[in-house]
Amino acid sequence: MTAPGPPGGRPGELRGKRIAGYLVESEIGRGGMAVVYLARDLRLDRPVALKLLAPELARNDVFRQRFAHESKVAAAIDHPHIVPVFEAGETEGLLYIAMRYVPGQDLRALLDRTGPLPVETAARIAGQVASALDAAHAHDLVHRDVKPGNILVAEGTDSEHPEHVYLTDFGLTKKSLSLTGFTSVGQFVGTLDYVAPEQISGKPVDGRCDVYSLGCVVHETLTGSPPFRRDDDMALLWAHQFDPPPRVSSLRPGLPAAVDGVLAKALAKSPDDRWNSCLEFTGALRRAGARAAPPPGAVPPPPRWALPVIREEDTG
Ligand SMILES: Nc1ncnc2c1ncn2[C@@H]1O[C@H](COP(=O)(O)OP(=O)(O)O)[C@@H](O)[C@H]1O
Ligand SMILES: [Mg+2]
Repeated sequence: MTAPGPPGGRPGELRGKRIAGYLVESEIGRGGMAVVYLARDLRLDRPVALKLLAPELARNDVFRQRFAHESKVAAAIDHPHIVPVFEAGETEGLLYIAMRYVPGQDLRALLDRTGPLPVETAARIAGQVASALDAAHAHDLVHRDVKPGNILVAEGTDSEHPEHVYLTDFGLTKKSLSLTGFTSVGQFVGTLDYVAPEQISGKPVDGRCDVYSLGCVVHETLTGSPPFRRDDDMALLWAHQFDPPPRVSSLRPGLPAAVDGVLAKALAKSPDDRWNSCLEFTGALRRAGARAAPPPGAVPPPPRWALPVIREEDTG
């Protein structure tokens, strides 16, 4: 359950180095098992994101297999909201994946910077992640690690599409209905904030565990924190399995009450009680959120200073 030490040794150590056909420029991110660099593809003279398995994990077969598996899974699904993989390989003992560089930031950084987002924005971001997840599920693959750090938010194409979102990090992806849990080495190397109850109890998982995790991400996008916050890991695991999640409208007044029901269904303890697909969930979220917005053409309420002054003799 504990994360391995920071991978990759000293940061910046590889800057200026050539790895296969790529020139490493700067570090852009790191997660539980890899470091991601901005690099230049020397053949095509374009930027790429170069993901390297941490050298100290490169001796561990579980991590090597997981890393090799990741590139194959991501490359197998051609989807506008999944980061395209260009190449994967091994050179001088380093395992690497070269993929599209997504300029922007991950949702973790975005939320840390801006705080909770409006419900329409949350629904737009989650909707794009949902379409990527449903595509993975159609290939009978379950992502199993949906969290803000694995959601990349780039600038969109126009004002109708203010952001373009990518799902990344298919390192924990498994075939649907495979068994999970804490038994295999290094299964959980990151946060437990988004993990579904059936992942914890080691039951077979299918796409509905990603619905749960996406529900946790949406909860955080709307309120600033994931549904459960506990002092220690055991309490957090217990909460995912047995505690009812708090209602988002109680944490963020002004959210339409319909959003509570939509999230409660995503965060149901039993997969059978959840939305059947991620897009079903985010579609319902968008419609529930739209109930908050004034109808088009509606006259906005007057500002406070323009409200009639009620004198005491009127109210007494
Ligand atoms: N294609 C990319 N373009 C830009 N940044 C990326 C890209 N892929 C990953 N990152 C950044 O690197 C971080 C770690 O990458 P990730 O694939 O999640 O590694 P890990 O498997 O170690 O969690 C991400 O959280 C993100 O901030
Ligand atoms: Mg990650």
